[in-house]
Amino acid sequence: MGSRNHPFGVGDETLPYTLVAHDEHDERHQGAVVFPIYQNSLFTYARSDDPGHGYKYSRMGNPTVVELEKRLAALENGESAQCFASGMAAISAAILSRVSAGDHIICVSQVYFGTREFMDHFLSRYQVEISYVDGTSVENIREAVRDNTKVLYLESPTSYYFQLQDLQACVALAGEFGMATILDNTWASPCRQHALDIGIDLVVHSLTKYVSGHSDVLGGAVIGKSSWIERLSRVDHQLLGGIMTPHTASLMMRGLRTLPLRMERLGESALKVALYLNSLPRIRNVNFPGLPEHPQHELAKRQMTGWGSLLSIELSASLEQAKQWVDQLTLFRIGLSFGGYESLVLVVGAAADSEEKRPLTLIRFNIGLEDPADLIRDLSSFYAWFGEGQQERAGQAQ
Ligand SMILES: Cc1ncc(COP(=O)(O)O)c(C=O)c1O
Repeated sequence: MGSRNHPFGVGDETLPYTLVAHDEHDERHQGAVVFPIYQNSLFTYARSDDPGHGYKYSRMGNPTVVELEKRLAALENGESAQCFASGMAAISAAILSRVSAGDHIICVSQVYFGTREFMDHFLSRYQVEISYVDGTSVENIREAVRDNTKVLYLESPTSYYFQLQDLQACVALAGEFGMATILDNTWASPCRQHALDIGIDLVVHSLTKYVSGHSDVLGGAVIGKSSWIERLSRVDHQLLGGIMTPHTASLMMRGLRTLPLRMERLGESALKVALYLNSLPRIRNVNFPGLPEHPQHELAKRQMTGWGSLLSIELSASLEQAKQWVDQLTLFRIGLSFGGYESLVLVVGAAADSEEKRPLTLIRFNIGLEDPADLIRDLSSFYAWFGEGQQERAGQAQ
């Protein structure tokens, strides 16, 4: 473990709880408990040749946003962070900061669809080539390496099937071939996976999810070594202009206050729901790395310290049947995204089931802060739809 680069002047052993809850008295702001919102595009200075405070124009840096960046870097155990208007702005800038025309990227095939679209529809216009690989085996990644491979782009776990990459093995492989490693760490949050400690070069987050925690603001961050972040800030952040506003940064700092607490509760509730879903008939897979049955559970325990709130099931039923069931759930709202206080469900799509005649439908759940016993009670309507002897009813929905 490297030493924590936190801004609060507390010791190395500080738990995330103290890190997010404790700020020193700040005389600059009359002891204000909440860091002020510097609602300014412009900062002036007393003398032409000496800006003094260092701020000029908010696209180049704003004190409220910089405060959030310090706190995120501290939580991720990174040297520096750069915030952005959204997770996608952070992801695209992180990738652009490491590639030029003629380069090649290796990316995990189940990467977040926005990232995949960015690679396919944007990077391809600038002669950057992409190979998608099943990241569950580092040998697959090795086979895809070319002379011009510059970036190994990872997302662990992935967003729909929650497959992991062995981060330590990926870092070793990247070192062998001089590739930069970028990891989307959104699912695990800065509390549950410290990938920079393992040697990943850049960690990206959609702060829209757990850090905001309240489904009311969008944001993103890239965290890593100061030299890499400085270059990315000067070029890819400032020139593309996808800045985070100071007001959003303040709401993100509010979210950070309870992040470790929420992550603990969300991870525990998600595990309870996953265990329940795992006991149901007609569910072929519950995709959640916290389940002992998950094929990568041991790896998950090695490289994470807990679980996120998102999981999926592969249900042996048609898309229509699955939609009718989720539509009558009362505590799960239907929607994209995750990491807020509210439980969500989304029927993602169906594939052919190789073992049964029925299709296999993927349903993704985001477990919120409600009482998990209530969520399980709501989900128990499953028996009425899909339990033994209920095939007839489910069949009518087809
Ligand atoms: C894993 C993951 N990464 C990145 C993003 C993009 O984040 P944003 O919507 O904040 O741009 C998302 C959004 O859903 C996501 O799920």
